[in-house]
Amino acid sequence: MADNNLPKDYLVTEKLVKRFDEAVAVDEVDLSIAQGEIFALLGSSGCGKSTLLRMLAGFETPTSGRILLSGQDVARLAPYERPFNMMFQSYALFPHLDLWENVAFGLKREGLPKSDIQQRVGEMLDLVQLGAYAKRKPHQLSGGQQQRVALARSLAKRPKVLLLDEPLGALDKKLREQTQFELVNIIEKVGVTCVMVTHDQEEAMTMAGRIAVMSKGRVLQVGSPQEVYEYPRTRFVADFIGSVNLLDGKLSVDETDHCAVQTAIGEIHVGHSISGTVGMPAAVAVRPEKVSIGKQAPQGLSRNLFNGRVKEIAYFGSFNTYIVVTPQGLRMKITEPNGSHLNLLDITWEDEVFFWWDDTDAMVLRD
Ligand SMILES: Nc1ncnc2c1ncn2[C@@H]1O[C@H](COP(=O)(O)OP(=O)(O)O)[C@@H](O)[C@H]1O
Ligand SMILES: [Mg+2]
Repeated sequence: MADNNLPKDYLVTEKLVKRFDEAVAVDEVDLSIAQGEIFALLGSSGCGKSTLLRMLAGFETPTSGRILLSGQDVARLAPYERPFNMMFQSYALFPHLDLWENVAFGLKREGLPKSDIQQRVGEMLDLVQLGAYAKRKPHQLSGGQQQRVALARSLAKRPKVLLLDEPLGALDKKLREQTQFELVNIIEKVGVTCVMVTHDQEEAMTMAGRIAVMSKGRVLQVGSPQEVYEYPRTRFVADFIGSVNLLDGKLSVDETDHCAVQTAIGEIHVGHSISGTVGMPAAVAVRPEKVSIGKQAPQGLSRNLFNGRVKEIAYFGSFNTYIVVTPQGLRMKITEPNGSHLNLLDITWEDEVFFWWDDTDAMVLRD
């Protein structure tokens, strides 16, 4: 968690653009990152994450726009002139050097006094809990340990900003999950501002305080993991972050504190306004876990209550997923935690069911 007293606009990009020939890789990106924050750039392959990170690091020159650190424009400084350090996915550890030498490498090149190097390397190896392994070579370590050495080396120069490009990309799934927490702990302990790139939404949600969702070189939405999950502003974000049911229609009501959308399955009531125009195209987004399912409709409920037939059921241990197809042919995805009332209701394939949700559990999206 970033400290609330630290500057909120510590690292800023202003209309940052990178073109390669005719193609725009990064398109007018405005970001404002707080000191001490862990900030994730999230998007699918080719959306411009690495190019944006490389511009921060100084490995790419922006076509236009500014990069400000504490108000100073750093966009035209060489990589070594900026207080930034980048950790690559491949780690790029020197195989013939032991851990101690790997971490000391950059400090020696900087010409730091021997005693300082000795102390700093010791501190860093302790920080990543590899002090006892100082004399080992990289190949004598697990993937997760190698990753921590690379982190120790990146932090040894005490950068103001740590840049991580797919930091866990080389690890298998189980090790990734464990290492995510270790990495966050170390970064927060040091207090360094961190910008990380990932295409994995779970990783971004687990590690980052805020996330910028990117598509085609643009930033579509910035917010905390909860904000982008609960209040996606566009179809793309709703669909990219987690799983969602999107119901297309036209805005039929728009009042200050609620609205409604006429869709193929009927009118859907939503507990917020979108300040739109009645008749305009709009889509309702409902997360599968917000939808309830049952063989009987709940007493007294008339809104956001629909019916359909169960076409698929998948059991995932802690929750079940149902695909329900409505008479209009719309497929709804519904998840229920295991051990809920459903076990008693015993829903099975081809059952006719009702499904429903609260006004406040859906979002209306304009595009
Ligand atoms: N050096 C380069 N020359 C030409 N095109 C590039 C170069 N680097 C990246 N691109 C293009 O820019 C776009 C964004 O790439 P990149 O930033 O690597 O995406 P991501 O990291 O999100 O996968 C892609 O279309 C890619 O092909
Ligand atoms: Mg990349």
